[in-house]
Amino acid sequence: MAKESSNWGLSTRCVHAGTFEDTMAGGVNTPIFASSAFQVPGPTGRVVYPRYQNIPGQVAVAQKIAALENAQAGIVVSSGMAAISSIFLAFCQTGDHVVLQSDLYGGTLGLAQRDLPRRGIDVSWVDSHRIEEFEAALRPKTRLIYVETPSNPLMKILDLEALARMAQARGVLTVVDNTFATPINQNPLDLGIDIVVHSGTKYLNGHSDLCCGALACRSTLMETIAPVISLYGPSLSPYDCFLLERGLKTLALRMARHNQNAMAVASYLAQDSRVARVYYPGLTDHPKHAIAARQMRGFGGMLSFEPKGNAETAHRVMERFTLFKPAVSLGGVESLACFPVETSHASVPPNQREKMGIRDNLIRLSVGIEDTEDLLKDLDRALQATV
Ligand SMILES: Cc1ncc(COP(=O)(O)O)c(C=O)c1O
Repeated sequence: MAKESSNWGLSTRCVHAGTFEDTMAGGVNTPIFASSAFQVPGPTGRVVYPRYQNIPGQVAVAQKIAALENAQAGIVVSSGMAAISSIFLAFCQTGDHVVLQSDLYGGTLGLAQRDLPRRGIDVSWVDSHRIEEFEAALRPKTRLIYVETPSNPLMKILDLEALARMAQARGVLTVVDNTFATPINQNPLDLGIDIVVHSGTKYLNGHSDLCCGALACRSTLMETIAPVISLYGPSLSPYDCFLLERGLKTLALRMARHNQNAMAVASYLAQDSRVARVYYPGLTDHPKHAIAARQMRGFGGMLSFEPKGNAETAHRVMERFTLFKPAVSLGGVESLACFPVETSHASVPPNQREKMGIRDNLIRLSVGIEDTEDLLKDLDRALQATV
């Protein structure tokens, strides 16, 4: 993180951190550097090339993300999965072992279930929030522990400080997918976690018009990760860097509204007799609310709920939404709704989904930044399908 930005608040970092000075025209934004060929020797004295992640637009946006995550180093890539897979590629080899929380984004589950074993990497799953169970899963060859909190789609919360303390004592790296929380609501590195990953496709960009990923960590770890990213090549184009940087400028503002709207929606659903269950860490009856309140500054824009009735009832609810659009993905300014069993977790076998607690009538909401009252009216109208 650049020196001056460490004194700024999060909103100021969103706007100013990393911005590349436009010395040619004096523009206030980082220019789009569209070249894939840069002169040698250039002004930096280094070979500059987009796949090496060192063109100015990539550096600018990576520095902004590092500043937001209180990290020494950041990097942006072409998808969240590229960021996630890069970590396993960088730190694990045949014969190694990793420990994953079992409640994870479906793509990460797929990577760990299908691809890591093919590379000779052993995977253990922990279906618990108890740090002792993560510790019990460790082996001499365990390289890293990978978790999400809040998790997708059941908003489970893990005590990051306790996890980091245990893992540090055992010499194991910890990785947190911070996509749902965003650096505005949670900074895992401050709690002792080693690496943060993001699907930047979601809140970081925030406008549902870009696929990208990011990771942030200390410089010594980045020295291992960056060369792997250069070799496998998931670089982010200068145009996409521009969009991501533009989106990030309003991240703090957007998250304040996402937090506020999601809390209102969760509270509304929690008191509605047409709803069986609500999953949102901001609700005081969430089993890990106290931990969430300790490690998060806001509870985020994501929540899940089960309307009373079966999957058919839930589908009728979904059909009645007008503002909540039935769509995959999340984290944009517009409200979205989806069935995890048909989208993020469609590739997870039904018996495994059932064990995870992801039922067929579970609806996940990505609560946008619209007027709260309009969202509540939309929910009320949709829930009439249950009676
Ligand atoms: C929590 C989480 N992590 C990672 C990903 C993967 O990100 P991407 O689709 O940008 O590769 C997703 C995608 O939905 C996600 O929800």
